[in-house]
Amino acid sequence: MGKLIIREARPSDRKAVVSFSAKIWEGHDYLPRVWDQWLEEPFGALLVAELDGRTVGTNKVTVLAPGEVWLEGLRVDPLQQSKGIAWALNQRAMEIVKKLKPTTVRFSTVFDNQASRHMGEQGGFRFLFPCRRLLAQSKKGDLPREAQGGMEDVDKILALLEKSSNFRQMKGLFAWGWIFKALDRPFVERVVAEGGALVARSLGKISGLALFLKQRHGPKAALGVIDGDDRTITALAGQFRIAAERLGFRELISMVPESSAPLLLAAGFRLEEPTRVVVYELSGETLERAVRVGGDITIPGSWE
Ligand SMILES: CC(C)(COP(=O)(O)OP(=O)(O)OC[C@H]1O[C@@H](n2cnc3c(N)ncnc32)[C@H](O)[C@@H]1OP(=O)(O)O)[C@@H](O)C(=O)NCCC(=O)NCCS
Repeated sequence: MGKLIIREARPSDRKAVVSFSAKIWEGHDYLPRVWDQWLEEPFGALLVAELDGRTVGTNKVTVLAPGEVWLEGLRVDPLQQSKGIAWALNQRAMEIVKKLKPTTVRFSTVFDNQASRHMGEQGGFRFLFPCRRLLAQSKKGDLPREAQGGMEDVDKILALLEKSSNFRQMKGLFAWGWIFKALDRPFVERVVAEGGALVARSLGKISGLALFLKQRHGPKAALGVIDGDDRTITALAGQFRIAAERLGFRELISMVPESSAPLLLAAGFRLEEPTRVVVYELSGETLERAVRVGGDITIPGSWE
């Protein structure tokens, strides 16, 4: 089978990573775009698999906030797949996760990615929720003056989120492109400060909202959460396109519960394959077991 090493990535891995990632998802992989930035990140880890001296796989442990770990960037060179390399990369990632003592570990993948879902489930991750990915282009237009949320609205935004059915369905997470991040007060404040809070007002209250932020791994504006009644959601989705245009974005990405997808379609969004996305989480007792030294979760097919 050859000699497999899982190690920290180095700048010299770039060429091999760019070359095999070009063969994944018909060249639409975002890895080359973020690779240099990932190498610089101070927390977590960027791993590569080296088979007989050749870089053939990647994996990334990202710390989104203290205790909040995100797994991403799992790739294996198509010529070297089905040899257990992803398992080995995941096993090393979980060893790093252990040291971070997280309260949650999450990842997302497309609904049809049987390999990722299978490995997650074998590792004790539980299915959190499904959502739909829709894209749109920004557009020129007018925004109602009262639509822009300010710092004075943060309490009202948090109050609405507490009652929001969409937010509940997304388990309190902000859909940050392909990353899903816990949406707490500091993060809401960041969104507001960056001009990404749109609100619908009625009788002094906020009756709907759309929160967006620049994608972490790309140039798109990401719609993190949207809620309100049906007409309000469609109106806010349209306003998102206009507000994003004003902030200089051209492309928009959104991940929303199934029931909201038609409401975004009505605002000019489009479904694009792969459109069904799923999020998994390791937390609570399962996480305790997984990160306990000598814990009883073993990764099958391991090279080590
Ligand atoms: C997903 C990917 C990383 C798997 O890499 P790999 O090295 O071939 O995976 P492994 O050989 O370690 O096998 C992983 C497990 O997934 C299973 N698996 C692989 N393909 C599968 C499929 N199509 N359906 C069901 N299970 C599958 C394997 O059987 C194995 O489980 P087992 O040991 O219990 O049988 C690789 O296919 C890849 O890079 N795909 C493109 C990028 C991608 O999808 N990344 C994940 C994004 S979330």
